[in-house]
Amino acid sequence: MRSFVVSEEEGVLTCEVRESDVGPGDPSDILVAVEFSGVNYKDALVASAHSRVRRLPLLIAGVDASGTVAQSNDSNFPVGARVAVHGGDLGVARDGGFAEYVYAPARYLSPLPDTVSNHDAMVIGTAGFTAMASMLALERHGLDATGEVLVTGATGGVGSLAITFLRASGYQAVASTGSPEESQWLLERGATRIIGREEIADRPDRVLAGERWSGAIDCVGGETLHHILRSLRCSAAVAACGLVASPDLHTNVYPFITRAVSLIGIDAVEAPEATRRKVWAALGEIAPKVDFAPLVDRTVGLDELTSALDLIRNGKTRGRILVKPTSGDVPLPHELLIGND
Ligand SMILES: NC(=O)c1ccc[n+]([C@@H]2O[C@H](COP(=O)([O-])OP(=O)(O)OC[C@H]3O[C@@H](n4cnc5c(N)ncnc54)[C@H](OP(=O)(O)O)[C@@H]3O)[C@@H](O)[C@H]2O)c1
Repeated sequence: MRSFVVSEEEGVLTCEVRESDVGPGDPSDILVAVEFSGVNYKDALVASAHSRVRRLPLLIAGVDASGTVAQSNDSNFPVGARVAVHGGDLGVARDGGFAEYVYAPARYLSPLPDTVSNHDAMVIGTAGFTAMASMLALERHGLDATGEVLVTGATGGVGSLAITFLRASGYQAVASTGSPEESQWLLERGATRIIGREEIADRPDRVLAGERWSGAIDCVGGETLHHILRSLRCSAAVAACGLVASPDLHTNVYPFITRAVSLIGIDAVEAPEATRRKVWAALGEIAPKVDFAPLVDRTVGLDELTSALDLIRNGKTRGRILVKPTSGDVPLPHELLIGND
């Protein structure tokens, strides 16, 4: 089958479309015919030399896929079921979704709600799953709908979906972006106003900034997260989900001990089954209220993935890049056809 393979030998990185064999890591693995995949920031890290994210010298990349179960012994995922596949080691330490087929354990699969097409499942993808998990975490914490919710890295996959979901749920989302030329697009996605990246640093000379945000979803990390903590209202929370600027966090305890703010960690990768179910159920409920088409930056084939990964690496996208690994129906992989006579 056709696949996008990342390999590194003696420090030399190669990314290329190849014919690959397909095989289960474990006999219980489920085979999914991939209709769409999506490009995530993590894929750009996987497809980098000396990557600390990729844990194999050679693998099919892609941390996301949606499609149809093609072979399964699991009654929860019968042949023909529509699923999203993401999380765990997918595309990081085992073959991923940039291919015509992917094998995955059942715990990486989520049945798609009827309201979410295979296409829209990858407009959502890991990015949208993370955005929804972040919003639900803020709500569990008691998100105040009368105030403003800050979203950083707003034109990115997680950021733009967070804005979309916050708006569809009745919240006022403020988009922080380093791409002012995309302001109109962000307003159309549901942002109530736009601020620059540097505007997050309110009163940097003081220990605490003014109380500005009822909640925040942060894709950026580093100094940005420090300034968000200083600017949360009393008892508000920030959902920390990204590190595009920096994985480091240097801050102080004043926001925690004088304003009772909370720092909530979001991890889509190892989300337990109950969380996956809740998040996909919430995505299924919100989907009819969302216009997914404008969230698609572009749709590419496997042959265009190298340049798509460069765009993500350089922050030159808005919303999501979708991947269509095949232009039509693909027969079962050769080795399986032989097995089936
Ligand atoms: N916790 C989890 O489980 C989880 C799941 C998915 C993703 N993530 C993380 O979430 C982050 C966002 O992922 P994504 O897929 O949305 O990435 P993305 O589509 O590449 O978007 C990242 C956005 O961040 C902004 N940005 C880029 N470089 C920046 C910099 N140096 N300083 C400040 N802002 C910068 C840009 O938006 P503007 O131009 O609008 O500022 C860019 O569009 C990544 O760190 C990713 O690893 C975590």
